[in-house]
Amino acid sequence: MNHILPILKEMLSKPKLQRVPEQMVMALEAQTQDFFNFGLGDTALRAAYLFHAKWASRTFANCKRVLDLGTGPANQLSILAQMNPSIEFVGVDLSDKMLELAQNNCAKLGVKNVTFVQDDMTQLSQLKAGEFDGVFSSVALHHLPNELDVEKTFKNARRVLKDRYSVYITDFLLVKNEQSIRYLLSLNETQPAVFKQDYEASLRASFPKRDFQRAASQYLDEAELYTSFGAQFLMVLKTPSYDLSQSAQSLLNSELERLSPATKNIYKSLAILMALRGMF
Ligand SMILES: C[S@@+](CC[C@H](N)C(=O)[O-])C[C@H]1O[C@@H](n2cnc3c(N)ncnc32)[C@H](O)[C@@H]1O
Repeated sequence: MNHILPILKEMLSKPKLQRVPEQMVMALEAQTQDFFNFGLGDTALRAAYLFHAKWASRTFANCKRVLDLGTGPANQLSILAQMNPSIEFVGVDLSDKMLELAQNNCAKLGVKNVTFVQDDMTQLSQLKAGEFDGVFSSVALHHLPNELDVEKTFKNARRVLKDRYSVYITDFLLVKNEQSIRYLLSLNETQPAVFKQDYEASLRASFPKRDFQRAASQYLDEAELYTSFGAQFLMVLKTPSYDLSQSAQSLLNSELERLSPATKNIYKSLAILMALRGMF
């Protein structure tokens, strides 16, 4: 496969794609559970979850209470909570079905340091000011209808955070052209249909980088925005990172050991793509 041409085209072209908002709440319970199971397997999704779990653990090293916005079935949160047993995590989701799945999944995995709250992440009306010292979110913001909702989410995230805070927020970014969407999908051709369809819809629903920059500069100005090198399809908005604890590192190592060489390479590629834009 030729990687250079599509990446160069994405880097040099003007933005042409319009975002296509996704359905706000994942509706199909069975599909969601498939997605969760898929995220536990030897898959690209697992590689991404482990990558973000490592960096979020480093970011939340000094935190006691961390909120997860759009926690879904706790795919990402369950790994993060396992790697950080001394942190109390609270997952927020609009969907009661998602929260039921999240609760069951965490119980099955024996994850004890999580609780869940049903709330709209743009409002966080159930949560008090200054309740948390960390806010996390993974591939959830692109479910919001428009960029004003991103601003409202960041504004309320800041409200529930203490004065000194840590943030790790990641999501896809809208790429500039159709060819880049096809290129990114082609890298995941071997994945099951449930993942491919969701991935494509997510890529198309992503916000452009400027929407995150604007919202972050208003409300989360201690965080820095990192994007993937080349085709900027992934962003991480985060505050400074610290050393990974030994226990988190050994759990991560044992999870990485279970991956096939091909999936480990996806993990390594993500690390390289983000390191090339300064996240190391
Ligand atoms: C793709 S899932 C992400 C799940 C998980 N964070 C992960 O990393 O895999 C997006 C989640 O965001 C939730 N969501 C969408 N809009 C929301 C809103 N306004 N407030 C709270 N949750 C929302 C959906 O219900 C869904 O569970």
